[in-house]
Amino acid sequence: MSNDHLAYTTPFPMGIEIASANGIYLFDKQGKKYTDLISGIAVSNLGHNNLEINKAIKNQVDEHLHVMVYGEYKQSVQNELANKLCSLLPNELDVFYPVNSGTEANEAALKLVKRVTGRKEIISFNGAYHGSTHGSLSVTGNEQKKSAFYPLLPEIRFIDFNNLNQLNTISTKTAGVIIEPIQGDAGVRIPSLEFINALRARCNEVGAMLIFDEIQTGFGRTGKLFAFEHYNVIPDVLTIGKALGGGMPMGGFVSSKENMNELTHNPKLGHITTFGGHPVCCAAALAVFKYSHF
Ligand SMILES: Cc1ncc(COP(=O)(O)O)c(C=O)c1O
Repeated sequence: MSNDHLAYTTPFPMGIEIASANGIYLFDKQGKKYTDLISGIAVSNLGHNNLEINKAIKNQVDEHLHVMVYGEYKQSVQNELANKLCSLLPNELDVFYPVNSGTEANEAALKLVKRVTGRKEIISFNGAYHGSTHGSLSVTGNEQKKSAFYPLLPEIRFIDFNNLNQLNTISTKTAGVIIEPIQGDAGVRIPSLEFINALRARCNEVGAMLIFDEIQTGFGRTGKLFAFEHYNVIPDVLTIGKALGGGMPMGGFVSSKENMNELTHNPKLGHITTFGGHPVCCAAALAVFKYSHF
């Protein structure tokens, strides 16, 4: 079938015509089998056609689809997911805000740290990738990806990943620091324990909030539910996505109740998203937790 009316994301698409997917395999229309090493870009942590996830999706479809923006009505599947996720996180991370994608989670996290601190500056790291919308692109440390789209957000500064000396540039002007606890797009760069601990300490010292973008590293990809567990350091905001929805589109950010409450007033609806917390996506995400025995 021709693709003339569908947008392309690269000039040289792979163009495999997918007929079905199962476990780690994709099958094309001719029955050829491919091993899916990219996993939908770090999404299919539990494999394709996971029967538990499929069942949860089908059950939720029969109950209801979208009814109202997240938070206005009580939707048991959203609450159950939030309870499950927060039960697995440190006490400081006790409120979950579901959104539609990874980049939206980071957008909202950037807004949250500005709102909570009343400051404007955001610090990010060279080589970082945080998403493709304007805010997330602004904190992405890769000129090739963003130079065609200037102007981006002001008051963003970049420092070197895993460089202890540059941490002292985080100051009382800094609202937040956003970091992938393991850089993905930059080539799976693992920082030292010392660096992550020093980063946490510097943020504490100057009152800057620390955002861990675990959109790629989350959900077992590093051997623990989240990569931050390897460092014994707790972020102020955790952003998640990709494998969270078990193949359904979903993102989210988690912080303390006190911080999250800042998004409810002045202005109210401080972050608003029509489809965030879509019940079918929440049902799939809940099945991810159940199936993984997290
Ligand atoms: C670390 C990280 N943050 C954010 C994103 C953006 O997520 P999404 O593509 O769902 O917007 C990605 C996607 O590759 C990512 O790897």
